[in-house]
Amino acid sequence: MGVLWLWEPVPLHIVVGGFFGDEGKGKIAAYFSLAENPSYAVRTGATNAGHTVVYRGQRYKLRIVPSGFVNPETGLIVARGALASLEVLLSEAEELGVASRLFVDEMTGIITREHVERERSDYYLMSHIGSTGSGVGAAMVDRVLRRLRLARDYPVLKQFLADTQALLLEAIERGELVLVEASQGYWLSLYHGTYPFVTSRDTTAAAALSEIGLGPRSVDRITVVFKAYVTRVGAGPLLGEISREEAEKLGWIEYGTVTGRPRRVAAFNYELAARAVKANSATDIAITKLDKLFPETRCARSWEKLSREARKWIEEVEDRLGAPVSVIGTGEEVGCVIDRSREVIAW
Ligand code: GTP
Ligand code: IMP
Ligand code: MG
Repeated sequence: MGVLWLWEPVPLHIVVGGFFGDEGKGKIAAYFSLAENPSYAVRTGATNAGHTVVYRGQRYKLRIVPSGFVNPETGLIVARGALASLEVLLSEAEELGVASRLFVDEMTGIITREHVERERSDYYLMSHIGSTGSGVGAAMVDRVLRRLRLARDYPVLKQFLADTQALLLEAIERGELVLVEASQGYWLSLYHGTYPFVTSRDTTAAAALSEIGLGPRSVDRITVVFKAYVTRVGAGPLLGEISREEAEKLGWIEYGTVTGRPRRVAAFNYELAARAVKANSATDIAITKLDKLFPETRCARSWEKLSREARKWIEEVEDRLGAPVSVIGTGEEVGCVIDRSREVIAW
């Protein structure tokens, strides 16, 4: 019998990746936005990260709009430390029909065509590192050199502009909930990952806080997300990597949301996961794609519905990582999830 972990909705909840990105943070953040009904969902990071959310049969590919958009009552914030191109910002806002509740910080960094070109013509970055070529690193360079133009410099963004730090501080003071959605994963961190095979920013929960402009004492819950196996796109070490043929046989093959590249695959790695849990001060863990390890669990919505083997595996993860597994993904749909603190309603 599994232990029931009781999580009261808390004011500031961060969702962060624990492997090499693509752990399924988008789906987990979308689930939390429906279950917890936060006042705001905040996206940090940049448009090299693609989140896939499958909700009511529709597949959304999000590059900057928070996955919390599935809750129509949630305000959507792009953090001031985040970076996006005008094209992605404007087209996503329109396609998702969220323009009236989207707030882009006045100081969010803007990626231009020139940044994309600078990266794509950089042989080292594209061929050696395997960059997504989204212009994020080049824009970060300009930001550090204090040449980058920010959202406030573009009249076309006027309707979205806000001091989002002030919005968040006020919401927290009123005791409202805020859900923060980080991007990529711990091992792609510029500081803590497998340098130089990393992205151009820190990817920890602490970095997400820094990007939105709140202090560590505001945080109540940090959920680190892991997939039931490890994937990595681009170059860099991947211990225990299996062949594409083997990954295909196991049903573990995936393609990148932004670049369409096949993701490299390995089995769940406890050492990498344990460090990510500790370094992020995780309060709890979310595991996605349990249905890919144990097909009989597909779209299970309660702990009791899991097979004995699946429950044993989750308990082993808890034992070895020293933190509770609070949420378990059992399918692509946002509602295919087990939440050990509440009953999951099928949306
Ligand atoms: P980054 O911000 O780029 O790191 O992305 P991400 O963490 O949001 O993950 P991404 O959406 O790129 O990749 C995860 C994939 O797994 C997507 O195709 C999701 O639809 C899918 N997915 C997420 N959770 C589950 C699950 O529990 N079961 C199954 N079968 N698929 C899932
Ligand atoms: P860049 O950040 O686009 O320059 O890419 C640098 C490295 O990070 C490459 O290995 C990319 O594949 C990887 N990367 C960047 N963003 C993501 C992501 O969202 N998911 C997975 N890998 C990513
Ligand atoms: Mg992704």
